[in-house]
Amino acid sequence: MKELKVLAVVVFFTLVTYWGVEPFAHSVMHKHVEGHNFAYSDINASNVKGDPAKGKAAISACTACHGIKSQGIKAPMDPVTAANTYGVNPPDLSNAGAIYDEKFLIAFMQDPAHAAIAKKMAMPPIMAGNAQGAADIAAYLKSIAPKELTPKEAFVTACGRCHANRYGKWTQIGDVPKTKGNIKTGNDVALEQFKINVAKYQDKLADYMGKLPPDLSIISRARSKEYLETFVENPQSHLKGTAMPRVGITKEGFEKVYAYLESTGDPSKPKREKTGPWVLGFFLIFTFLAYGWYKSQWKGLK
Ligand code: HEC
Ligand code: HEC
Repeated sequence: MKELKVLAVVVFFTLVTYWGVEPFAHSVMHKHVEGHNFAYSDINASNVKGDPAKGKAAISACTACHGIKSQGIKAPMDPVTAANTYGVNPPDLSNAGAIYDEKFLIAFMQDPAHAAIAKKMAMPPIMAGNAQGAADIAAYLKSIAPKELTPKEAFVTACGRCHANRYGKWTQIGDVPKTKGNIKTGNDVALEQFKINVAKYQDKLADYMGKLPPDLSIISRARSKEYLETFVENPQSHLKGTAMPRVGITKEGFEKVYAYLESTGDPSKPKREKTGPWVLGFFLIFTFLAYGWYKSQWKGLK
């Protein structure tokens, strides 16, 4: 009887902790942020229709700073020089039409800091007061964008100028060059130079942002998908006053970025998911066999 009372007390406190204290502590530490499905409803959709041909003719307004590799347009500056000039490297625009919300993009060209909810933006309001011109360029960027981006392309375009991903071998200035072992070859010299350039870039980026944006290799383990989704949709909703801008990607764009973060944060997930059904199948068969064996052992003994 005494044991039962002790058990009841233990069970009671366990349940109180489980349903009461833990969720309360959780809600205090991580406040709940409502997602909006990347609707960006604070931005008015311009009702002008963009003409990709006109946008193409006007694109030099952008390629003064941005490269568009898929169209054979090289960035005017290498990333380190760009960071010295702007604090950050203007991203290549080859995939921009595939990942940014169109409404956001048009608003961003006219007033970058406002669209990005950022205190300052190194990109000037190139298309201020020219909604038609901005819509034309957005239509052009959409027309040249690939239909489908790989997860990595999505990450590089939307996040890669600020965030490294060590497990994905990505740095803010590009992929870590491959080298052949530890022999002192020309490759190693190139790698050393590359590392120096990364450090120079990060130095300028930290000045621009107030701190170095964190490496995102394993962020998918540290933060829930829901957190990442609502954070990317509007960083201010979680970290009031943060320097990270709203990047204005679409819902599908976010799914791609998340797929990349998951692949570097949990690389064995696909394998685990493939093995799972086999393990369950094994247990099922094993259960049948064990039951059959038990039956046969007890036969005639009862
Ligand atoms: C004077 C240089 C300059 C010009 C001209 C310029 N940009 Fe930028 N752009 C930048 C810089 C710098 C950034 C990165 C800003 C940051 O991350 O704070 C940027 C960022 C962007 C981004 C990323 C936005 C995001 O949400 O993350 C897009 C898209 C973009 N620019 C498009 C354009 C387009 C389209 C044009 C032409 C209408 C253009 N830019 C003209 C310098 C420039
Ligand atoms: C213009 C630079 C810039 C871009 C582009 C950018 N970030 Fe960030 N990000 C930052 C900075 C700066 C911080 C540090 C914020 C802070 O601590 O206030 C940060 C922090 C974060 C964090 C950590 C948040 C936390 O609660 O600890 C995550 C997650 C993140 N960024 C995800 C992304 C993703 C995903 C993308 C692309 C879709 C992206 N960022 C694009 C600058 C950037």
